[in-house]
Amino acid sequence: MLPTAGNELSSVNSKECKENIIKFEMEYNVSLKIIGMGKGIPERCVTNDDLAGFLDTDDEWIVTRTGIKTRYVCTYETLTDLSVTAAKQALDKANLAASDISLIICATLGGDYRTPSHACTVAEQLGTTCPAFDINAACTGFVYALDIASAYLEAGKAKNILIICAEMMSSQMDWNDRNTCILFGDGAAACVVTAGNALKYTSLSAIADTTILNLPVDTGNNPFIAEKRGKAYLQMQGQEVFKFAVGIVGKDVKHALETTGLSPEQIDYFILHQANKRIIDSIRVKLKQPEEKFPVNIDKYGNISSVSVPLLLSEMLDEGKINPSDTLFISAFGAGLTAGSCILVWE
Ligand code: UT7
Repeated sequence: MLPTAGNELSSVNSKECKENIIKFEMEYNVSLKIIGMGKGIPERCVTNDDLAGFLDTDDEWIVTRTGIKTRYVCTYETLTDLSVTAAKQALDKANLAASDISLIICATLGGDYRTPSHACTVAEQLGTTCPAFDINAACTGFVYALDIASAYLEAGKAKNILIICAEMMSSQMDWNDRNTCILFGDGAAACVVTAGNALKYTSLSAIADTTILNLPVDTGNNPFIAEKRGKAYLQMQGQEVFKFAVGIVGKDVKHALETTGLSPEQIDYFILHQANKRIIDSIRVKLKQPEEKFPVNIDKYGNISSVSVPLLLSEMLDEGKINPSDTLFISAFGAGLTAGSCILVWE
């Protein structure tokens, strides 16, 4: 049994992060375990050469700077299609029917509709009537969703919870902007969680900074606004986000290990957000751990925001790479700026 973090809600000042970091760590009386996972990926694979066909870029630049070789992009599929596929696979693997689910949490930057929520859109297709809602913690959505799910389970307010992470990044980025559009892809991943003891530690943070990574909304046709904002796309100061990512993930790993008393050697896999292979490598080098402990899917899928981590986990399970008692450190970061990490001892 691992030692767990003490209950703590604290504000921490950091020189690198100009605003307050609100961190929440939790000791779980009843925690959760993942009992089934699934994925939904669009059919169309887009290579770097495809992008070089209409952008001033090339395969060598993209592979060297990011580690990305391909990504998948929706053409005829809706985000609901991908999410329902992922959810049904997760339910099958958990050996449960949709009617066994007592809560649906969906992490997304936005579904097929602004309202109803993406969770409700998926619930309609699954035929469930349980509560369903979305959260937006950007790329950190999966870790936030796990934390919310564990709180519901601990309170005895749900039995089986369906978490879906789903992103259609292709509709949110400017395909003329080589700084951003080469990075992202579309997809969905889902898992069913129930009461268990796998989740040992969670740490979430949010830093108030809307400048370096954001996606503005337009003002519509409101006649009372003189300066209308038309359709806007994802905006990112890449190097600033890079620095934030390396800093926060490094701190989160250190804090998680100190709190749980684990050493890096005792972690079987570091499953990190897939934003840039260089970010992952930099953390690995600092921890002096072998490459095989840092699985990647960014080469195949690019960055799918909240989906990247659960998709990686789902594929590792399918490939038989995760065994009972394996200790997984999971970490993600994204717009907000949000960050989150957790430790799972696989059940
Ligand atoms: O999940 C969301 C979180 N997002 C991230 O974590 C992203 C973090 N940031 C990054 O991954 C990297 O900063 C990028 C991959 C976005 C950019 O890599 P970089 O090494 O920071 O490149 P840069 O922005 O400094 O650009 C270097 C050069 C520039 O040209 P000059 O000014 O040196 O002439 C860019 O214009 O590379 C140019 N460039 C490109 N060249 C070819 C930028 N994008 C491209 C491109 N193809 N796609």
